[in-house]
Amino acid sequence: LVAPESGALASGRDGSGRLADPEQIAEACVAMLTPDTLKGKKVVVSAGPTREHSDPVRFLSNPSSGKMGFALAEQAVSRGAQVTLVAGPVALEAPHGVTRIDVTGTEEMLEAMRQCTAGADLVVMAAAPADYRPAQPSAHKVKKGDGDLTLTLTRTPDILKSLDLRARGTLVIGFAAETRDLEAYARKKLQDKNLDAVVGNIVGHAGTGFGAQNNAGRLFFRDGGELELPLGTKGEMAARILDWAQERL
Ligand code: PMT
Repeated sequence: LVAPESGALASGRDGSGRLADPEQIAEACVAMLTPDTLKGKKVVVSAGPTREHSDPVRFLSNPSSGKMGFALAEQAVSRGAQVTLVAGPVALEAPHGVTRIDVTGTEEMLEAMRQCTAGADLVVMAAAPADYRPAQPSAHKVKKGDGDLTLTLTRTPDILKSLDLRARGTLVIGFAAETRDLEAYARKKLQDKNLDAVVGNIVGHAGTGFGAQNNAGRLFFRDGGELELPLGTKGEMAARILDWAQERL
């Protein structure tokens, strides 16, 4: 049942009786028609960028829109999973039925992931956390001068490495966003971050990757195998990734 929403009604009164958001109705229909293959499973997905401020009005970040992670969360909830979505600053509505935790910086994303991944069956890390932050952020807006400005950056924590979820029995899928040598870099991340699988996707071109509606890539496994993820919507890619994951849960 998708309940009516509250607000101003045609009768001139305020209250419950407004048509629910059509997208929410469509999501509920899709969920109803999708077999509950992840029922009873706890799934955590991360999405979007993080921001690392150099002063209150400036930050380092990247063009991640959160669409890939939100598509994964939507697929997982429609398959009956209990889903938590840890989201960086993005302009997207969380899919109906998903618990959303909003974060800004990489350290904050790590803490949120630490809290909600306890006992998780599956973690999919589609977020693009910033790897560096300004070493000495200013409490006030930095005034511009005539010359150049040098910013010293320091490393942020690596979330997947810090949590080492695979060692705790969670199935872990990471992403590798690359501009070249996709397989070599993705497989290195698979090993270094102790993952069960990694989605290698090419970024830096229009049409797929950051911000796009569509994506394409390859899912690399620990045993050396791989699965092609052909060009399609991020929803279609998410479905393929979860098809692979649910067979292993
Ligand atoms: O959000 P969209 O606009 O839909 O774009 C989707 C996407 C391109 C962001 C997504 O498909 C993607 O590739 N996400 C991973 C981006 C990334 O940070 O890649 P990476 O190769 O730098 O990191 C490798 C893995 O480590 C990722 O799973 C990442 O989430 C994780 N990581 C990265 C940095 C960090 N400090 N801690 C991490 O755990």
